[in-house]
Formats: sequence, C-alpha cells, structure tokens
Amino acid sequence: MIIIKTSNEMKAWSKTCHDAGERISFVPTMGNLHAGHLSLVDAASHVSDKIVVSIFVNPTQFSADEDLEKYPRTEEDDLKTLADKNVDVVFMPMPSEIYPDVENIQYLDVPDIAKELEGASRPEHFRGVATVVKILFDCVEPNHAFFGEKDFQQLIIIKDMVEKLALDIDIHGEKIIRDDDGLAKSSRNQYLSVEQRQKAPILYLALRQASKNITQGSMANDEVLSQSIEFIENNGFSVDYFVIRDASSLGQAKSSNRVILVAAMLGTTRLLDNLRID
Ligand code: PAJ
Repeated sequence: MIIIKTSNEMKAWSKTCHDAGERISFVPTMGNLHAGHLSLVDAASHVSDKIVVSIFVNPTQFSADEDLEKYPRTEEDDLKTLADKNVDVVFMPMPSEIYPDVENIQYLDVPDIAKELEGASRPEHFRGVATVVKILFDCVEPNHAFFGEKDFQQLIIIKDMVEKLALDIDIHGEKIIRDDDGLAKSSRNQYLSVEQRQKAPILYLALRQASKNITQGSMANDEVLSQSIEFIENNGFSVDYFVIRDASSLGQAKSSNRVILVAAMLGTTRLLDNLRID
C-alpha cells in the first residue's frame, strides 16, 4: 500500500494506471474508519483493478461553531486497517494541497436541496463537501466512487454534481452499516455516554415503525411523522427533522421510492439516520 501526500503524485499515479488500462475505484473519507467506511472499500474491491481511499478532514465543510480540531484523528489505526483490506493507495493530502489559495477558494454551486435538512442548520456544509469531492476527483481520476447512504443528502448532492459537470464517474451509494442493536455506525457514536448509547437505537426503531405505518396506509403520513417525533423526544432526544422525501431527488415524496430521514440531538451529539421505503 502506497501513501501519497501530494496532488501531483496522486495525479501521476492515476495516469500510470489509466495508461495501463486499469480502472480505479475511489472511497473518500475523513478517517477514523469504522465498519461503515470499510463496507465501501469492500464494494470498491468488486468493481476495479485499483482502490484508492482518501483521508482528509475537510475544513470547508465544518461551520465556525463545529470543532474541526476535535474531529477524531486515528491515522495509525486507519492505515493498518486499510493495509489489511489490500487498498492500493491512501491519499492523505495536507489542507494546503487541496486549497493552495485559502483566501480564494472556488466553491462549486450546489442545488437548492443543499439548503434543506442538514443544510438548514449547516448552511455552508454541502458546498464544502461538493467542492472537496470535486478536487479529490481531479486528483484521483476514478472510474467509480463510493459513498454511504448513511449520509443520504450528501449522496444526492454528489450525484447532482457529477451529472451537472458531466463527469465520467460512476457514483455508487452503499447501504447503511449498523451495530447489532440497529444504531447506524458513525464516528460521532463515540461521543455518546453509556446511557445515551443505550438510547441511541431508538432512532432506527422509530424509522422502522414509521415505515411500517406508512406502507400499511392505516394512518395519514403527517400523523405518522408527528407520532414518531413525539416517541423520539419522549426518549430524551431533541428532533431536528423527521421527514419523508422522494429518494432520488429529496424533493417532496411521491407515492413510490421514498426515504424517511431523521436528525436528532442526543445531548450534544447530532445523530443522523434514514430508511428507504417502497
Ligand atoms: P466520512 O464521514 O468519513 O464518511 C465517508 C463515507 O463513509 C461517506 O460516504 C459516508 O456516507 C460513509 N459512511 C459513514 N458511515 C457509514 C455507515 N454506517 N454505513 C455506510 N457508509 C457509511 O462523508 C464524509 O466523510 C465527507 O463528507 C467526505 C465525503 C469524505 C468529503 O469530505
């Protein structure tokens, strides 16, 4: 496994692969790897000759009140894990490689949906995500790129970016990996106290119950959603949103291909989850 730290070296490595007719799969991450990230690496290994994983804690997707410095960094463990997975390259650029002119970052435009849901409380988050993913794509030049449905809105925004810029990259959305009790794996789970960790699977329970009630059609959707919010809040969470949307655009839900999305605070930890229905 090679560790590459500069954009130029990354581009040169990719060019050599493409010249040899090899196809590259790419998994962008911010490190602190868990089974959710590794499921993307596994999916990547099935479609290409080479696998590149990036580890870059992207400053432009953090807002001023989110602590970039406190984001968990576990480089040594991450590298061991990726070597065991037979990853070919880990791309670990310094911020100055990705943003050579920090005063003058050329942000990509993001669609209106970036202002809703996660974007409502983190207004600049998705333009930071889209911008860094495009820069990483330019360095890695992948044929395939893998993202988790865990961050459903992020996946929709990346697909939109790839379509609008007509990039020749297949975007793969992979299913959510969960702990045995249903809690979606996340770097943020480590911030939960023992008591909060026991409560956290309530979110998935609420999603499953809501999905059942909606597909059975015995209750109006609005009633299902407000009942779900009440259930989650009675368990000590503060719900930001619990909504049903169209799964391909995140616009208003139609009668098929829907997804229920939830974001809720448990103490100071923001947890996200979603469940596709239909
Ligand atoms: P990060 O939070 O490190 O996540 C990297 C990838 O892992 C994302 O595509 C995310 O959706 C996926 N992932 C996280 N938890 C998962 C789970 N439980 N099951 C399946 N997949 C999961 O998302 C980012 O980094 C950044 O925004 C990034 C795209 C790297 C841009 O900076």
